[in-house]
Amino acid sequence: MTTTLIDEPVLATRKVHIETWGCQMNVADSEKMLGLLQGQNYQLVDTPEQADLIVLNTCHIREKSTHKIMSRLGVLKELKLTNRGLKIAVTGCVAQAEGEKLLKRAPTIDLLMGPGKIDELPRLLEEVKETHRPAVALGFISGRGDHTHETPEEIAKSQAAAFEECQHPVPSLVGRNEISRFVTIQQGCNNFCTFCVVPFTRGKEISVKPPIVMAKVRSFLQQGAKEITLLGQNVNSYGLDLVENGRLTPTADGPFVDLLRELCTIPELARVRLITSNPHDFTFPLAQLFASEPKMGKYFHLPVQSGSDVILEKMKRKVTAADYLRRVQWLRDAVPDMALSTDLIVGFPGESDADFDATLSLVEQVRYHFLYAFGYSPRKHTAAVRFKDVVPEAVKTKRLAALNALQDQITVEINEATIGKTHKVLFLYPSKKKPDCFYGRNAQFQLVQVESKASLVGQELDVCITEANKTALVGTLV
Ligand code: SAH
Ligand code: SF4
Ligand code: F3S
Repeated sequence: MTTTLIDEPVLATRKVHIETWGCQMNVADSEKMLGLLQGQNYQLVDTPEQADLIVLNTCHIREKSTHKIMSRLGVLKELKLTNRGLKIAVTGCVAQAEGEKLLKRAPTIDLLMGPGKIDELPRLLEEVKETHRPAVALGFISGRGDHTHETPEEIAKSQAAAFEECQHPVPSLVGRNEISRFVTIQQGCNNFCTFCVVPFTRGKEISVKPPIVMAKVRSFLQQGAKEITLLGQNVNSYGLDLVENGRLTPTADGPFVDLLRELCTIPELARVRLITSNPHDFTFPLAQLFASEPKMGKYFHLPVQSGSDVILEKMKRKVTAADYLRRVQWLRDAVPDMALSTDLIVGFPGESDADFDATLSLVEQVRYHFLYAFGYSPRKHTAAVRFKDVVPEAVKTKRLAALNALQDQITVEINEATIGKTHKVLFLYPSKKKPDCFYGRNAQFQLVQVESKASLVGQELDVCITEANKTALVGTLV
C-alpha cells in the first residue's frame, strides 16, 4: 500500500533572518538560536525583506557597535510598514548591558534577550504573539542548563540532550561550514580588566562540564566535522569554577589541559582550536601539550593588549610584558615554529609615546602571524571610563596605522617564507567567488587557497606553496 502526503496538514514555514556582530561566541549563540527556531518551523533567509522575524545578535565591546545596532534598527523599522507581522528581536551583549532602556530608545524592538537566556527564545516568541507587547529576558546563566548536574543520572541525561542538540546542525552562519564547528565551553569572565564590558554582559565564569563538552564534540564529529574550536572568554581558566565548587578533580596539569587531552583521544577529530584567552591563566602544562599533541596544531591566540607595563598595570591585566614573553617562550620551546596572534588596544588613557613604542617593540620581538588592533573605546560600567589623560582620537588613529603597517610587513615576510615548502592543509570550504577553488588552513592557521576540479572539503592534504600575500597562501596539491 502506498501512502500519500497530500492530505497531511502543511505547517506554514516561518522565515528568520539573523545578523551577528561581535565575537565567535556570538556566532555560536546565533547558531544555537537558529537551532531552536528550526524546531519552531523557522527557516533561515538571507535578507531581512524576506523575514517574519529578524534577530540582531549584538556586541557591546566597543562604542561603535551600539551605534551600529541603533542605525540598523532605524533601517529595519521601515520594513514593518509593509510587513505588519514582522517581529524584531535584539539579543546578545547590547541587550544585556542596556536592558529595558533600549526598548525606550527603539520601540520597534519586539523581543529583548540577553546571552544567558537563549533557551527561553521559543517561549518569548509565544509571549510576543499573545500579548502584542515586547517580551524581555535578561540576566546571566544561573544554575540551569548544562551547568549544574549533580548525580550521574542527571549528567547522563544532559549528555544525551547535548548530543541530540548538535545532531540538528544549522545552516552555515558567517561563512563557516560543517567541517569546522564551535563548542562553547565557558560563559562569562571573572577578570574585570579595566577597559572591558564582558563581565557586565556575560556574568561570571561558568564552565560547561567535561562530559557535556565531549558529548557535543562527538555529536559534531559524527556528522562529519573534523575541526572543533572551543570557545570561552578566557579558555585557559576553563574548569577552575568546577574545581572550586567540588564538581571536578583535575590532575596536576589542571582542568583545561585534562579536557584537551581527553578530546585529543577521539580518532575522528583532526584539530582542536581555542578562542580566546587571557595570558594570566596560560599555564606551562598547556604549552607542553602543544608539543605532545599534534591535533593542537601550531597556532595560539594570546591577547596581550599592550607592550607597556605601566599600561598593563592600569588595564589590570595581572601580567607584565616580561610575564607575557615568558609564556611565548614556553610555547616556542614546545613548538619552535609556533604561530601566534594577539589583540592590542592603542590609546588607552595615559598611553604615552614611550608606552606605544613598547607595544611596537613587543610586536617586533614576538613576530605575530597576525594581530587585531583596536583604538581604546570607553565603556560604561568599566573602571577605565573614569581614567584621566584621555588620548585624542587623532593620536589613536596615527598609532593604529603605525601598528598595522608594522604587522602587515611582518605578516608578508612570514607568509612569503612559506613559498616552496609543503604544508598539511585541512580544507574547510569552497570559494564563493572562484569556481574550482578551495580554502583550508595549515597547522599555523594560515589560509591556503588551492585550485581543484574535485571537492577538497573535509580532506587533509599536502600542499606545496607557490605564492603568498598578506591574507593568504596559494599552492598546489602534492
Ligand atoms: N578575553 C580576551 C579578550 C576578549 S575581548 C582577553 O582577555 O584578552 C576581545 C578584544 O576586544 C580584546 O582583546 C581587546 O583587544 C578588545 N577590546 C575589549 N574592550 C575594548 C575597549 N574598551 N576598547 C577597545 N578594544 C577593546
Ligand atoms: Fe575582558 Fe578578557 Fe579581561 Fe575578561 S579577561 S575582562 S574578557 S579582556
Ligand atoms: Fe562582543 Fe559580547 Fe563577544 S560584547 S566580543 S559579543 S562577549
